[in-house]
Amino acid sequence: MASRFQHAMILHIILFLQIVHLIKGQLRIIPSYEPVLGVVGKEVVLPCQLEAKAISEGVLVQWTLIGNSLNTEVTTYDGKNAQNPVKENKAYLGRTNFFQSEINKGNLSLQLKNVVVSDKGKYICSVSLENWYDEVVVDLDVAAQGNESAVHLDGYVDQGIGLTCKSHGWFPQPEVIWLDSKGQIRKEKVVTQNLQTSSGLFDVVSSMTLEPGSDMEVSCRIVNDVLNTACESRILVLDVFFPSTSPWMTAFLVITFCTMAVIAAIGYKLKINCTRRQKEETTDELKKGKYFLSSINRCDHREQI
Ligand SMILES: *[C@@H]1O[C@H](CO)[C@@H](O)[C@H](O)[C@H]1NC(C)=O
Ligand SMILES: *[C@@H]1O[C@H](CO)[C@@H](O)[C@H](O)[C@H]1NC(C)=O
Repeated sequence: MASRFQHAMILHIILFLQIVHLIKGQLRIIPSYEPVLGVVGKEVVLPCQLEAKAISEGVLVQWTLIGNSLNTEVTTYDGKNAQNPVKENKAYLGRTNFFQSEINKGNLSLQLKNVVVSDKGKYICSVSLENWYDEVVVDLDVAAQGNESAVHLDGYVDQGIGLTCKSHGWFPQPEVIWLDSKGQIRKEKVVTQNLQTSSGLFDVVSSMTLEPGSDMEVSCRIVNDVLNTACESRILVLDVFFPSTSPWMTAFLVITFCTMAVIAAIGYKLKINCTRRQKEETTDELKKGKYFLSSINRCDHREQI
């Protein structure tokens, strides 16, 4: 008898311990280890899910952005209030939302709309319910795909043609790569600037000089490693638009071009004017885009380029 009673006792204790464990376990927020990626202008969901599939009413949820010196109370949900959310920080005004019908299932995730660069950071989801409290940290990473890149011709630089590639609205700073017809990285010296605008996005300007005799197919590729996307602008410059293939050729052409005007005239000065005018004319022609055989601009997922 005693032994049977002991068995029953032990069984009850085990059951009791399991129930206690269950209650404690039920009210735990599932931690999220991976950062969440938000795309500028789009919406993102910051996950905060309780292990329990059903919770009683009256839950209080607070989302806070961890700052360097002080934290920002982003938004609050209070189960006692019909309003959703009850309080929003002004930098997040009209941009946060709790999934009302999901709350009683323990889904306290935050929907953040129209993501901006300054949203990037670590957020705390803190939850209190009756006598219970827990919090998790969710890391939000932000990225933006710039608009279509385009290669422009700046005009002549010595014997070559100056090319500039531009694109707006990237985050984080993208990588600019200039390629030849075979898709190999070009050997020319490249100068790239990333200018951060007030919205935190980067405008990219990259320049190089195309020398006569080099590969005339030029491609400027701007890569965002976070989104794994790229924009590419490809042009083919015709040989005939180079000032000349050698300095001697230039001199010869300029002289022949100018001879008629110079014959009975003042000599050197006129010759210089003449040279300059010829170059300007050609530069205008360059700027009108007559030098392209083809020009392709596109933005794509990197795998497809
Ligand atoms: C919570 O609900 C939203 C909306 O239905 C959903 O997108 C999200 O995946 C759900 N769960 C979590 C853990 O965020
Ligand atoms: C990219 O955006 C900038 C600034 O909004 C604009 O000036 C430019 O024309 C755009 N370029 C293209 C190719 O859409």
